[in-house]
Amino acid sequence: MPTQQPPLADRRASYTRHVDRRLPAGPAAQPAPAGSAYSSETGRTYRLDRLIGKGGFGEVYLATPSGNGSSDQVCVKISDRLSGWLREAYFAELLAREPRALRVYDRFVESVDGEMRYCLAMEYAEHGDLGAWLEKVGAQSERFVRRELAAIAGALDALHRGHALHRDLTPFNVFVCAGNELKLGDFGIATHQLSRRGVTADAFNLFHVPNEIAWGRVRRWQKRDDVYQIGLLAAMLLRGDITSPMRSKDVRGLPCSDHLKEVIHCCLGSRGKRYESARELITALRKPPKEPSLGRVPSLEGKRVSFTGFLIRPRADAIAAARKAGALVQSKPGPSTDILVRGRPNAQQIAGRDGGSKLIEVRRLAAEGIKVTVIGERQFWKLAEPPAPAKKKARHPRARLNSKSVSRRDSSSAPKPNSLQATRGTRRS
Ligand SMILES: Nc1ncnc2c1ncn2[C@@H]1O[C@H](COP(=O)(O)OP(=O)(O)O)[C@@H](O)[C@H]1O
Ligand SMILES: [Mg+2]
Repeated sequence: MPTQQPPLADRRASYTRHVDRRLPAGPAAQPAPAGSAYSSETGRTYRLDRLIGKGGFGEVYLATPSGNGSSDQVCVKISDRLSGWLREAYFAELLAREPRALRVYDRFVESVDGEMRYCLAMEYAEHGDLGAWLEKVGAQSERFVRRELAAIAGALDALHRGHALHRDLTPFNVFVCAGNELKLGDFGIATHQLSRRGVTADAFNLFHVPNEIAWGRVRRWQKRDDVYQIGLLAAMLLRGDITSPMRSKDVRGLPCSDHLKEVIHCCLGSRGKRYESARELITALRKPPKEPSLGRVPSLEGKRVSFTGFLIRPRADAIAAARKAGALVQSKPGPSTDILVRGRPNAQQIAGRDGGSKLIEVRRLAAEGIKVTVIGERQFWKLAEPPAPAKKKARHPRARLNSKSVSRRDSSSAPKPNSLQATRGTRRS
């Protein structure tokens, strides 16, 4: 993500060139503000009370319907583009049962002065979009963030289960409704994917996408990119700020529990380790990771070994000892790793004491059914440098004679069993 952040107004419209094509070409293409819109579908007339939003797609009015009873205020979104209107109407229908997707009540087309106006009447989000709301109310509690994150991920999961992608989960397309409930909206660039490889990443808001897509290294948008955007929204909610850059390494500074940090880190972190879909994110949110328990292994011979945490002896010594014992040392754990040697935890890790990126990866692999045994450093040294078997030496007769006095005289300076570890313990890697 670029580090230079433009003003909020620019960020709302910071789409790639592909999306800019959706902008009206000239004054003739702008839907002329009108006092009302009539739906030939439902027979309702919507009095357009005031303009409340303008996006790349059209204009959004707060409106009051007349006819057919209800007088609750709604939003009427008016566009001159057929494709976006069709998409929004279609995806709203697909998510009609999802409580956290904005309801669309009516879809209709009008001809005004020879121009077509494509209209949607939808649920009015009384607190506006998430960007505007956060500017007013500021940072949210972890409790709120967890609840709302799970809720909007639920709506996204319905989309993902239908093999569709939202692709535009920015704070301007998530809405804050009554009771501060967040809902997904603006399905203007949502699309179905034909294969698990995703769809061509040809439409996105530059400031809300993973680096690899922003920089053009990855050209396919996948479910995990929607997940990235949801993770970014969670971080914005916790910080009460939608403009500051947020990189995965900033996760450690978020004001929340280690568990939530780990979840957000898995949304924002490297692509290959990200939750693959909204379902995986929801599962992780529900299940706090277990304390990593230490296992046992019989030998290091032929094993792939990685290290984490502060070791008592320098890391280079440990690597050399592991190699000497026949192990293959890996800089970080992966699917082929057998053993992770865990030193003293470092509280400054991404997600706290038990949330270093290597332990997070081991837990992620475990969820995929790949077992990496975590062992403590003491066990590692026992395996790497097993104590030599004690030899029975024939003792010199004079030594036998002096043994009592020698042991008494040297008892204070005689090496204790752990003295090697204790002396070296001052040199931590
Ligand atoms: N249902 C709604 N309730 C309240 N405000 C809305 C609603 N729909 C849109 N808006 C406002 O209009 C802006 C643009 O709407 P959006 O649906 O995102 O259109 P676009 O496709 O043009 O981006 C939103 O960011 C928001 O401020
Ligand atoms: Mg929008």
